[in-house]
Amino acid sequence: MIIAVDGPTASGKGTISRALAKHYDLPHLDTGLLYRAVGRQVLLDGGDPDDARDALTATSFPDSLLVDPVLRSEETGGYASRVSIHPAVRQALYERQRDFAMQEGGAVLDGRDIGTVIVPEAGVKLFITASVQSRAKRRWLEMQGREIDIPLDEIERDIAARDARDIARPDAPLKAAPGALILDTTELDRDQAVAEAIRIVDARQAER
Ligand code: DC
Repeated sequence: MIIAVDGPTASGKGTISRALAKHYDLPHLDTGLLYRAVGRQVLLDGGDPDDARDALTATSFPDSLLVDPVLRSEETGGYASRVSIHPAVRQALYERQRDFAMQEGGAVLDGRDIGTVIVPEAGVKLFITASVQSRAKRRWLEMQGREIDIPLDEIERDIAARDARDIARPDAPLKAAPGALILDTTELDRDQAVAEAIRIVDARQAER
């Protein structure tokens, strides 16, 4: 079974994808991490994330970078969003994601274009969303937990800017894939969101 999970930043898609992978005993790929690694590598190279050639060069980042905690920072997220605009970068990362999805037994992948571009034939497609305010609040709480003090309104602005860029880019914009089931987590806590995602996947499997 291939499960494609898409949605905006801090919607809960990462948490839900990891929980689904565990529940169905499937490998999981957080594809945002690949774009984050490219964003980080551009910075390390002293390049410009808005320059397509610099960003493409950074797609040859070493695998060891994928476990660097700095990839989780808001700053790297912003760089990731900027490098992800370039079609050459998306193309360079395509094969890796596609191979992961097509491995025997299936997989769970989460990102922005999994159901639309990477595996449109996925058996289950979920689009996880939530209001900007609730996503900002979650990100803020997460930051507080890591003792990083960023004002809530700054996070809200960052998230809104990131959404705008992800939605407006001409190549693989963030949008629900045809046939995707939309799960709005604004009013749900973690366990409720996970339970609802599992219910959706089970229902989709039963139909097949
Ligand atoms: O999910 P995330 O916040 O880790 O993603 C960081 C950025 O990477 C996001 O702003 C857009 C980009 N991205 C993408 O374009 N396509 C994906 N499949 C995953 C992430």
